Amino acid sequence: MQSLMKQPACSVQARVGTTNGRRVLAVHAQAASSPAIESISGVRPEVVEAIATARHNCLTATNLPLPNRRQGKVRDTYDLGERVVIVTTDRQSAFDRLLASVPFKGQVLNQTAAWWFQQTAHIIPSALLSLPDPNVAVMQKCKVFPVEFVCRGFMTGSTDTSLWTHYKAGARQYCGNSFPDGMRKNDRLAANVITPTTKAEDHDVPISPKEIVEEGLMTQEDWDTVSAAALKIFAFGQAEAAKRGLLLVDTKYEFGKDAEGNIRIIDEVHTPDSSRYWLADTYAARHAAGLEPENIDKEFLRLWFRQRCDPYKDAVLPEAPAELVCELSKRYVYLYERITGQVFQVPDLDKAINDRIVANLQKAGLC
Ligand SMILES: Nc1ncnc2c1ncn2[C@@H]1O[C@H](COP(=O)(O)OP(=O)(O)OP(=O)(O)O)[C@@H](O)[C@H]1O
Ligand SMILES: [Mg+2]
Repeated sequence: MQSLMKQPACSVQARVGTTNGRRVLAVHAQAASSPAIESISGVRPEVVEAIATARHNCLTATNLPLPNRRQGKVRDTYDLGERVVIVTTDRQSAFDRLLASVPFKGQVLNQTAAWWFQQTAHIIPSALLSLPDPNVAVMQKCKVFPVEFVCRGFMTGSTDTSLWTHYKAGARQYCGNSFPDGMRKNDRLAANVITPTTKAEDHDVPISPKEIVEEGLMTQEDWDTVSAAALKIFAFGQAEAAKRGLLLVDTKYEFGKDAEGNIRIIDEVHTPDSSRYWLADTYAARHAAGLEPENIDKEFLRLWFRQRCDPYKDAVLPEAPAELVCELSKRYVYLYERITGQVFQVPDLDKAINDRIVANLQKAGLC
């Protein structure tokens, strides 16, 4: 699922705001050839400097001395039998291809997910065993349910599987949920819902709980357990996000069964890639005025490509400008700190990132 990205401003405007004690300067200056670029402040100068240094030391591909590598969109997994080593890379994909590598993105996703796995352990255990490196998680290998548990608190989205896309087209029933007439885009739902999709190779297909059971994707008992846990984790995430001035709008979870048959949450939780966050303090006023909610926008890189080439068809894509890649990196770090309340730790930049990972895996006795 894609997180919602703000559309670019069509005129030049500057805005200075304060969000959760941090000053955010947003400058939209869209000429015909350049997308809106919002420069976020609130990231420490030493991190900004480290981002520039790390730009040439990103984790785009891995080739670790471990067996059974499988490359996902963002993660490379190595299957060790009872355990999996999951390396979250810096890959930034869109249009089904790699657009750029973003310094520290993999670390941010890995550490954000780990933080949430710990926070939600009282609801359902995760498969996480250890973090031997900022970019690496060791997990219990689970048999993954072939369903993505999409949880939503708002009527929004713009992709084919979004709730708003279906509602706008007239649907009042979606994935086993009913919605009343008269709702507007970005309205808060009367209650959180799950709109599951099948976990298909190329694209995710909406499905109802009834179909999930009828088609044998999950037993009724497993569905009941997992859907209840998903809604609890989501409600917990919303409450935690609210403490930091954020609305957790929607997200998706994956679950699986470990070797003993225990259900565990896997993959990632409430990361900026799997979740949509809006800024809470401006939501009501903007929504009332018919404006899109504010978020920490990550759409500008996709727009930059769309304005310059056909990213679906062109064999070779232009290289993303360093300025945009570094801005994106800053936003990931900002989101990590904002979401988790933790201070981002700049990793050791003296070693090539792949070498650092191998050294850390060796230290942990994994290779
Ligand atoms: N504990 C686990 N046991 C088994 N498989 C896991 C575990 N944790 C994650 N995985 C699998 O590892 C893969 C991670 O890949 P990645 O997150 O890059 O892509 P994806 O999950 O296929 O796509 P997306 O996250 O964009 O929907 C996923 O297939 C996920 O199901
Ligand atoms: Mg995933």
